[in-house]
Amino acid sequence: MPPNDFPVDTRARIETLRETIREHDYRYYVLDQPEVSDAEYDALMRELQQLEAEHPELASVDSPTQRVGGAPREGFVKAQHPSSMLSLDNAFSEQELRDFDRRVRERAEVDAVDYVGELKLDGISMSVQFTDGVMQRALTRGDGSTGEDITENARTIRSLPLSLNEKAGAELDWSGTLEVRGEVVLNRRSFEKLNADRMRESQPTFANPRNAAAGSLRVLDPKITASRRLDYFAYALLRDGRPVMERHWATLNALEASGFKVNPNRLRCSGIEPLIEFAASWPEKRDSLAYEIDGLVVKVDSTAVQAKLASTARAPRWAIAYKWAAEQAETVVEDIDVQVGRTGAITPRALLKPVQVGGVTVSRATLHNEDEIARLGLQIGDTVLVERSGDVIPKVLRVVTQGKDRRPFMILENCPVCGTHLVREEGEAIRRCVNANCPARLKESILHFASRRAMNIDGLGEALVEQFVDKGLVDSLAGLYRLQQEQLESLERVGKKSAENLLRNIAASRSRTVARLIYGLGIRFVGERTAQVLAQSHGSIDELGEATLDELREVDDVGPRVAQAVLDFFDAPKNQQLLAELREAGLTFREDQPLKAEPLETALAGKTFVLTGTLPGLTRDEAGALIEQAGGKLAGSVSNKTDYLVAGDKAGSKLDKARALGLAILDEAGLRELLGTAAATG
Ligand code: IVH
Repeated sequence: MPPNDFPVDTRARIETLRETIREHDYRYYVLDQPEVSDAEYDALMRELQQLEAEHPELASVDSPTQRVGGAPREGFVKAQHPSSMLSLDNAFSEQELRDFDRRVRERAEVDAVDYVGELKLDGISMSVQFTDGVMQRALTRGDGSTGEDITENARTIRSLPLSLNEKAGAELDWSGTLEVRGEVVLNRRSFEKLNADRMRESQPTFANPRNAAAGSLRVLDPKITASRRLDYFAYALLRDGRPVMERHWATLNALEASGFKVNPNRLRCSGIEPLIEFAASWPEKRDSLAYEIDGLVVKVDSTAVQAKLASTARAPRWAIAYKWAAEQAETVVEDIDVQVGRTGAITPRALLKPVQVGGVTVSRATLHNEDEIARLGLQIGDTVLVERSGDVIPKVLRVVTQGKDRRPFMILENCPVCGTHLVREEGEAIRRCVNANCPARLKESILHFASRRAMNIDGLGEALVEQFVDKGLVDSLAGLYRLQQEQLESLERVGKKSAENLLRNIAASRSRTVARLIYGLGIRFVGERTAQVLAQSHGSIDELGEATLDELREVDDVGPRVAQAVLDFFDAPKNQQLLAELREAGLTFREDQPLKAEPLETALAGKTFVLTGTLPGLTRDEAGALIEQAGGKLAGSVSNKTDYLVAGDKAGSKLDKARALGLAILDEAGLRELLGTAAATG
């Protein structure tokens, strides 16, 4: 720091410091590429603060020192927007986007239109006025024509430039008064941290990043705003309420070059079709963004065409918000049937009047078990709210209205497939068919045996297995290896070629590893990882079959339940018979090579789980065992290190805490999906 008694040009030094700090802010907050250490940055800031304190006559509103937030205010002053901040019309399907495009072309009387697609950031819109490149005033949207003056709070947003004069590469002329519009957002991380802090201080938490951003922007104390790490993404530039540039795309690039943060996920194209493709790619990618988005905004690129199209009182005709179809929908439960899983678990299932949910047609939803039906108060004929997210099996959230001719689901006493009396074990919510020869169980067992991570028999799908079992061609897993070409060709939709292929694939599965075979046998609680561990520790099916309970329990990662289940499996005469037949069929029972674990592909590997509440179809122990077998870890309490909270009924404080931390929360269906098992295979 230059000594004060030295005749330095203080004004020049202050200007240099401001410029240097601005540049560092830009690199850090906009580009995310810091060039100096925190210590170096702090030293510059301290020097500037000191000089400004000593020379109040040199103070400036666009100095970086102004970003820390001044004194609290009494309230916000209202101010008129130079031109209305309109809303956007929505499109909820690809068809509605095409309709938008058609309307645009008709009204603008052009054959093809250039469009720009941007992400629709889920935050709060803010208009910022600059005069001769210096930030003057920031307003909330308010009712669209009048907003609240939140200038002091906006100053604390580090990615919002406070002065723009000398940015190289900007083709914009910032002289006079210009208005930038954009979105204030809080990234997920900052949101989680904020809520965690608030929870620690027993303050109410925010429901989502959007509410947190809104709350942070509209507090009277700018120091609070400063502490919240808000971000600003610019998406429009106006002079006297009109676009400055001829193309929206050029505006975005110019804003970026001027030092604003502009969302990089944008596309310019001719015609609407490329945007439909762009839009379709986002639902699965959106969770990987640091920010939440609630759709896409499609805008006409040419501002001349925009002007021609103009606006309604509510929204411009040249732009539209595209929202992905809702993940929830209402429909009628037409019937309830049950599925019989591989282990005999009986899962009731709602048969729905087909409905579009999240872009797919849903006609079935899991009901988990009888208790769940009681909890929902559900009867056949009721209208329900159904939800699906990602690939998770759709589920019924609640009854919306009771049907006029509703009738209760009759609890089953006997297996609907083989008629065996169903058993409900103590502490279990699920009834099971205990008939090991039940055709329904056999079908599920075959599908599991043939699945990709087990014996990987390509082409052996549900429709075929159904026919194998129903026509009596296959009565056990070993029966697969006795199938003949003519038998296959006699089946529906099986030609010579596909029969040959299937037989070849079945034959090839004979040489699968011992670990895959153990997994494919479907021993209770033995997931892919446990199967690998068992194959490694015992080397062959025979040695595994001879292991005692104690020997099994000595194996790393094998708990008492798993050990008992393995023992029970090998003890059952039926399974002895099965193994003899599989050996006869030439399957690999002993590994020639020393075994190496195949890397687990599961989504659970290395992830930490916490269990809470009562799950409909699994006890806490069972869920824990399944998670561990798939490579997941269990923890007792929720923290920042938790990856997933598995929450059932009556989940209490752990659920609240997980929500506050923004952790992934799974119900049983979600867990099963992650585990790669269907709900019915229990
Ligand atoms: S353009 C007249 N672009 O969505 C055009 N808006 O539902 C108005 N939003 O109030 C806005 N990201 O807060 C535009 N890339 C984006 C946006 C965006 C988020 C918000 C904005 C607006 C709301 C309209």
